[in-house]
Amino acid sequence: MEKQLSQKFYEAMKDLEPRYPNKKALILPALHQAQAECGWLPPEVLAEVAAYIGVHEAQIREVASFYTMYNLKPVGKNHLRICTNVACCLRGADELMSYAERKLGIACGETTPDGMFTLSEEECLGACTTAPVMMANDDYVENLDINGLNDWIERAKNER
Ligand code: FES
Repeated sequence: MEKQLSQKFYEAMKDLEPRYPNKKALILPALHQAQAECGWLPPEVLAEVAAYIGVHEAQIREVASFYTMYNLKPVGKNHLRICTNVACCLRGADELMSYAERKLGIACGETTPDGMFTLSEEECLGACTTAPVMMANDDYVENLDINGLNDWIERAKNER
């Protein structure tokens, strides 16, 4: 099997290993590192992480598919994840999602043809007190409204 992950991945794992005497506990950091490197987690990468950890590939897939932060299909340069759970829903998340779909010309779960944006729905992001909330790449955007969402998208477009 041809390696997909770089030397940098293996060096990062080597640094972490002393803190994780049970190597299986390294699954989450390994998936984070692999995703940071590849942008998403294709089957070959999951297989390589499994080989590194020393578990069956199915176990890695189970973990990766449980957490929505892991991308099992390619995502755009900007990944917008709008929380549509109760607190956010009560404060307008559905309208935000509809607005984002219209603005980007895609449905939730899709990526724009130019690869710039992926739009996803999230369950509770754990920031209910500042609902509605969106994760925009690695950042939380809280107390989101249509203007804030529009501004965020426009800024990202201008940073091409
Ligand atoms: S319901 Fe949206 S952050 Fe909790």
